Amino acid sequence: MIDTHCHLHFSEYDQDRETVFQRSWNSGIKTLILVGCDAEDSGQAMKLAQNFDGAFFSAGFHPHEAARWDLDKKQKLEELSLHPKCVAIGEVGLDYYRNLSPKEDQQKVFIEMLNLAKSRQLPLIIHCRQAGDEMVSLLKEQGPFPSSGVMHCFSGDSKYLKDCLKLGFYISFAGNLTFPNAQELRDRAAEVPMERLLAETDCPYLTPVPFRGKRNEPGFLSHTVRKLAEIRNLPFEEMSDGISQNARRLFKLGHHAGN
Ligand code: NI
Repeated sequence: MIDTHCHLHFSEYDQDRETVFQRSWNSGIKTLILVGCDAEDSGQAMKLAQNFDGAFFSAGFHPHEAARWDLDKKQKLEELSLHPKCVAIGEVGLDYYRNLSPKEDQQKVFIEMLNLAKSRQLPLIIHCRQAGDEMVSLLKEQGPFPSSGVMHCFSGDSKYLKDCLKLGFYISFAGNLTFPNAQELRDRAAEVPMERLLAETDCPYLTPVPFRGKRNEPGFLSHTVRKLAEIRNLPFEEMSDGISQNARRLFKLGHHAGN
C-alpha cells in the first residue's frame, strides 16, 4: 500500500520517528510521500525521504502560510523540486475556511505553484477548503495540467467533485471517511471512478476509527482503505491494489529509485 500524503517529518514524531517508520513498513506500507507545507518544511521532508527507500517527498507552500511568501522561499522550492525524490508540488491551494492568510496572497502563491508544477512536469497535491468555485475557475484559467494532480483530503459537493474529475484530477480520501457523521463524504467516495481514487492518512491528523483521538500514522491507512472497499462493495485486496496502481501512475513512482 502507498500512503500518498503524510507528514512524518513534523515534530509530532520527534520522539519515535524510526519506530513509526518501522511499524508502517511492517503494516504493509511499501511507499509513502512526505508532503511539504512551506519551503523549510519541504526541505525537512526531503531530508527524511533521503534516509528511507520507499519514501518520497513533495515541495509546496500551504495556503495558511501564503502571507509569508517571498522570493527566497520561491527559489528554495524551485531547487527542491529538482531533487530526484521529489514526486509532486504540494501541498498548495486555497483555504477560505480558516483564512489564515489573506485570499489575495493565497491566490498569488497558488498560481506560482501551479506554474512550478507545469514547468517541472510534476503532479499537484491540492488542499482546498470552502473555496471550490475559486479553485475550479483558477484551475481552468491556469490549466491544462498534463501531469495532473490530486484533490487531497477531498471535501465538497457532487458538483465540485464532477468539476475536479473533468479537470483530470484524482480524488483522495483520508481517515475522516470513517467518522460516523461523514455519510456525505462516503457518498462522494462512491461517485469517483475507480481509476481516479486515492487514499492517504494526512498523519498526524485525521486518525481513522478505531484510533480516532490518537496521533495518526501511515500504518493506520488500511482502516480508510477498508472503508473505501466497503463503500464500493469490493474486496479489500482489490481496492488496495487499485488505488496503489493509481498512486504509482499519478506520481510516476516506478520511475524513481527505490521502487
Ligand atoms: Ni496534509
